Amino acid sequence: MIRQASIDITAVGGYLPLKVVVNDDFASMVATSNEWITSHTGIRERRFASVSMLTSDMAAEAARSMSVDLSDVDGIIVATATPDYQGFPSTACVLVEKLGLSQVKIAFDLVAGCTGFVYALEQARALVHCGSCRKMLVVGAEKMSSVLDFSDRNTCVLFGDGAGCVIVEEGDGLKRTLLGVEGKGADSLYINQSRHIVMNGRAVYNFAVTKMTEIIARLTQEEGISLADISWIVPHQANERIIKAAAERLGVDVEKFYLNVSRYANTSAATIPLALWDMEKEGKLKQGDILLLVAFGAGLTYGGNCLVWKK
Ligand code: ACO
Repeated sequence: MIRQASIDITAVGGYLPLKVVVNDDFASMVATSNEWITSHTGIRERRFASVSMLTSDMAAEAARSMSVDLSDVDGIIVATATPDYQGFPSTACVLVEKLGLSQVKIAFDLVAGCTGFVYALEQARALVHCGSCRKMLVVGAEKMSSVLDFSDRNTCVLFGDGAGCVIVEEGDGLKRTLLGVEGKGADSLYINQSRHIVMNGRAVYNFAVTKMTEIIARLTQEEGISLADISWIVPHQANERIIKAAAERLGVDVEKFYLNVSRYANTSAATIPLALWDMEKEGKLKQGDILLLVAFGAGLTYGGNCLVWKK
């Protein structure tokens, strides 16, 4: 539990590749159907990037979409499990070059699976709070299509590509963060030596519902607010069934959860910033709204941020 809050989100952006892949497109590759995918996951379509478009390219497009002056950005975190290079250099360093930024002092990638963006926001808060950075670009970007095994129906239908990002600066909008790591379950969800996702769907499902419920309950309790005070819960978009099950356990109307998994599938660390980007474009975010960002992912990791929308 971390009490000290010291950042506001001052801009939000995103990028989605143009190529739309619908559920029926998988029927020629594996034994599946639009009916199965929709009923089990809520996913209807996703975007896939071209071969030449890398994670850093999507991140750069997302950053440019904000139409804000980036010349004074002094720190960049890219949450990703699908970096341009294996090992090094970091995607964040490639992004610095692609955006032509000269003031950046700190740039690194953060790996926490689908919890990456929630972890990254807290890292940014800490860096701003201790004075290492003043204005940071925090990105969640993934080229999940590059790690899919298109002969495995358990996984290939679940993911999509995209990038979302925010600018954070000193402020008091981020009220509380809760981060966690299970210390087990690494073999439930991983990218193997052949660069393919391997997943124990049932184990991930059970973990996800339990943790999403727990994070929401703990964040509200520790912050001294009730679920009624929250304008939106912005969950990691893995699967509609997980979100609906968590809503049911908490006794919260599922309408309080923002959902766009039907359009983009699971873009891992990018789902939450992409959701914020969509919500802003749809006019769903008002100044003063209290948001809970909630995620779970490979590791196994989990976490949530409670913040007041200041834009
Ligand atoms: N099309 C048709 N059948 C499928 C497909 C598919 N795309 N995928 C799996 N199946 C089959 C399985 O092979 C299995 O068949 P079998 O009984 O003949 O072996 C059958 O469906 C049932 O499999 P289950 O895993 O029990 O299916 P379930 O009802 O649990 O739904 C699902 C599968 C949706 C993956 C579920 O396990 C789930 O929601 N897991 C959460 C995992 C998830 O969302 N991961 C996303 C990434 S992880 C993250 O974001 C952190």
